[in-house]
Amino acid sequence: MRTYLVTGGAGFIGSNYIHYMFRKYDNEIRIINVDKLTYAGNLENLKDVENRDNYTFVRADICDKDAIEKIFAENDIDRVVHFAAESHVDRSIKNPEVFVQTNVLGTAVMLNAAKAAWENADGTFKEGKKFLHVSTDEVYGSLPDDGESYFYETTPYSPHSPYSASKASSDMLVKAYMDTYHFPANITNCSNNYGPFQFPEKLIPLMINNALSGKDLPVYGEGKNIRDWLYVDDHAKGIDMVQEKGKLFETYNIGGHNEKRNIEIVNIIIETLLEILPDDDPRKKNVSKDLIKHVEDRKGHDLRYAIAPDKIREEIGWEPETMFAEGIKKTIKWYLENEEWMKNVTSGAYEKYYESMYSGR
Ligand code: NAD
Ligand code: DAU
Repeated sequence: MRTYLVTGGAGFIGSNYIHYMFRKYDNEIRIINVDKLTYAGNLENLKDVENRDNYTFVRADICDKDAIEKIFAENDIDRVVHFAAESHVDRSIKNPEVFVQTNVLGTAVMLNAAKAAWENADGTFKEGKKFLHVSTDEVYGSLPDDGESYFYETTPYSPHSPYSASKASSDMLVKAYMDTYHFPANITNCSNNYGPFQFPEKLIPLMINNALSGKDLPVYGEGKNIRDWLYVDDHAKGIDMVQEKGKLFETYNIGGHNEKRNIEIVNIIIETLLEILPDDDPRKKNVSKDLIKHVEDRKGHDLRYAIAPDKIREEIGWEPETMFAEGIKKTIKWYLENEEWMKNVTSGAYEKYYESMYSGR
């Protein structure tokens, strides 16, 4: 039975990936999820799988070399899928250090531990071992608003935020391990994900949550910035396909040709909420476009991201399956049906975060 070590599996994409993998492989695989449980990690995301015999959770920091080496020593790990990271751009602008710590040093710890466990005496690697580093399209910088330029795997790196600089650094480390040691790895650079279990510091769940409680909808600047949105299950599938069908040592961009301006997203959320909510739901009266408030822009705000997913389509046969109209409805319905989840994650520390990030904006 193949054993996966997933880092950051209690976060948004990691937990969706674990669900996807158990749906697809059921008892054919074993997953060990290592997560520090920062503010973004939530074991409630994994309630459905926590009692499986082929699932283990280990609470550990990826920067803790001893803890990570112990996991490799005690288990014959076949695949690493490395999600764990500080992931929010706004937080990186306020407090960059932890991004360097986790995203760069943590990745170095993961690479070293996997290399030590997988390397043969002659410097080759044991058959079938693979490391997948989950990264972002933000490493490529920003595109003009021309509707025709795209990020390709060959686009030079040009990160702007401390978050994207730390992810670019971690990508470079993975590339260095592949070039220097022939370490068996892949890198995926994906566009903006949306779907269930996303922490409401990110645009889509933040707007859903605020609209339902009648709070302002803080659109940065004019709201004209463009992101390329991908339903999270499609990302999970892409990661699995890259590990199974991709060529080792290659980078694959994952994205859905689904560009939207932020203001469009906010309008779609309000319209969808008004369409889905029954008239007798007390939350419906809060929902209105009047809540939209244009606030101070993000510092160094990248204008446009857009992935050209040609390579992953042509070499691997991956294509996005969820149309945005369907995916956003599914996502909004999930948040409506999981009010308790939202209440739990927005109590306490979230309120302080929200206050520090948005008061005075
Ligand atoms: P997230 O913030 O929801 O989850 C991150 C997870 O990592 C959390 O469970 C957290 O507890 C864990 N973590 C953080 N620091 C850790 C540490 N030091 N040790 C162990 N665990 C730690 O993030 P996400 O949105 O799910 O993103 C996952 C990965 O995908 C990240 O590497 C991110 O850069 C990348 N990515 C995200 C998107 C997106 O749209 N969200 C798009 C492309 C790539
Ligand atoms: O492109 C992939 C990246 O997408 C990932 O690597 C990151 O981990 C992920 O957080 C995401 O980064 P963004 O900065 O694009 O996502 P965010 O949801 O923070 O913002 C999306 C857009 O919405 C961005 O242009 C900023 C804007 N925004 C965001 C928030 C939170 C607002 O206008 N108002 C807000 O309150």
